[in-house]
Amino acid sequence: MSVPVRHDGVSALHCLVVDDEPHLRRVLVRLMQTDGFSCDEAGNGVEALEQMATRPATLVVTDLHMPQMDGIELLRELRQRYPDTAVMMITAVADVGTAVNCLNVGAMDYLTKPFHLEEVRARVRQALERRRLIIENRDYQERLEDRVRVQARRLEELFLASIQSLADALEVKDPYTLGHSLRVSRHSGVIARALGLDRPVVAQIELGGHVHDIGKIGVREAVLNKPGPLTDEEYQHIMTHPIVGWRILSPLLAEQPIALNVVRSHHERFDGRGVPDGLAGEEVPLEARIAAVADTFDAMTSVRPYRPGVPVASTLVELRRCSGSQFDPRVVDAFIAAVEAGEIDSNMVAAVRTMTVPSAAGRAS
Ligand SMILES: [Fe+2]
Repeated sequence: MSVPVRHDGVSALHCLVVDDEPHLRRVLVRLMQTDGFSCDEAGNGVEALEQMATRPATLVVTDLHMPQMDGIELLRELRQRYPDTAVMMITAVADVGTAVNCLNVGAMDYLTKPFHLEEVRARVRQALERRRLIIENRDYQERLEDRVRVQARRLEELFLASIQSLADALEVKDPYTLGHSLRVSRHSGVIARALGLDRPVVAQIELGGHVHDIGKIGVREAVLNKPGPLTDEEYQHIMTHPIVGWRILSPLLAEQPIALNVVRSHHERFDGRGVPDGLAGEEVPLEARIAAVADTFDAMTSVRPYRPGVPVASTLVELRRCSGSQFDPRVVDAFIAAVEAGEIDSNMVAAVRTMTVPSAAGRAS
């Protein structure tokens, strides 16, 4: 008989015969050796496990009733320790019910005594073929899952690259936002973590921070880079950027609604006097309340076309002054605590110079 056996870590064509009757063991061993198997023998389950530890078998043929450890207990141990080993039970006709139960525990098949050698050959061949298919199917599933994981990672990378391209496009148009988006993203992440938000939510908030000002792509450069104060019309024009950004990013961020909320609502105010929707208090998504504080902190500490940067200490005073009006007090508290705890990387604080404190509610960032 030619037995199709693949080599996959378990010794190919190696069989372990387990029976407390030496005569029956020898009959089976001779049969298996004739068919090309190398064979080990064991008189009970304990001995069988010792043999397996030394030399794992492709196939175990085991009696049901044995001293010390019977066939069912051995079967359970084998399934757990050697899931790729095929196990065939040998049973008397009176124990067929038990043998069928063994199939539920994971036996590949069972043989009833007395058996014909040709029948044993056929059943062994079937059992090993089934084992081969099971292993191949599992390997295929694992390879498939690996490929799906790789594809998903690639899609994620492409998505983030497209978002980065948009952010880069804005920085070319508005050099003063250089690094601003990244810093707002980082600061927002620090606040979100301080507030105990889950990691996937934090990731979306950081993404939202990274793209919060994308809508400025639609703002005239003359207004964006104007060194002096803005006229009312210019201010209204620049403040269209949350809704413009939201429109641009809605198709891309359909599955990241939290990030999208940051884009749309980062200029809402806690007192309801913000844009674009005039939301108030908890109506403003928490992620947008977080980004508003991070955005203002970075805008104030950055050098702008119309003023130098504000020192961190003065900026925190201003955030505190606007807590409860422009900003959610809980978010301001979390941010200031994070700054005081040294959780804001000083490399991520924009250029700072001393000057008097302007109103945080002033120029849009
Ligand atoms: Fe903005």
